[in-house]
Amino acid sequence: MSGVNKNIVILISGSGSNMAAIVETSRKQRWQDRYGARVAAVISNKAAAKGLVWAQDQGIETSALDHTAYDSREAFDAALMARIDRYNPALVVLAGFMRILTPGFVQHYEGRLVNIHPSLLPAFAGLKTHQRAIEMGCRFAGATVHRVTSELDHGEILDQAVVPVLSGDTPEILAARVLAQEHLIYPRAIERLLSV
Ligand code: GRF
Repeated sequence: MSGVNKNIVILISGSGSNMAAIVETSRKQRWQDRYGARVAAVISNKAAAKGLVWAQDQGIETSALDHTAYDSREAFDAALMARIDRYNPALVVLAGFMRILTPGFVQHYEGRLVNIHPSLLPAFAGLKTHQRAIEMGCRFAGATVHRVTSELDHGEILDQAVVPVLSGDTPEILAARVLAQEHLIYPRAIERLLSV
């Protein structure tokens, strides 16, 4: 990814632990000096998202755009695109952003849009991944960083991590084991994209 001033915009809906892992890694690994890259903004569709407070405390620009205030998915996505494009981002990072995006949005950011999903894709696209993995008797679960296409939880796989499913696991216990790995592979995948 060539050029200087590679702005990264991160979209969240909740706790934002992946976002925080990316911000912390970007500082530890000096992405600004090495790649001209920085997390320029964190945007949420929920004003109450805990991650917004954390990002603000870090001195990062934050904003919320309430999807319920828009008549249609298209109208919300158009407003969101306008907000994101203020930063002319090199990468738009979905980190627990709980919205299905319109094809127009996905097309607009083609090649710049990535997501993390808490399963070993292509297994268990969609919701309740940990419960489904336990119910199916999977011995392994994990997480996937992938490019975003207009098909939900599809797109080129950029990185994955595998964890064991242990007897007695609840969806919550498994989710925590997977999340710890997400915090490693998401920054790693982004760093790789910045470095080429
Ligand atoms: C993560 O499990 C991520 O894979 C999924 O949503 C969760 C977000 O967690 N898409 P957080 O907001 O990053 O803590």
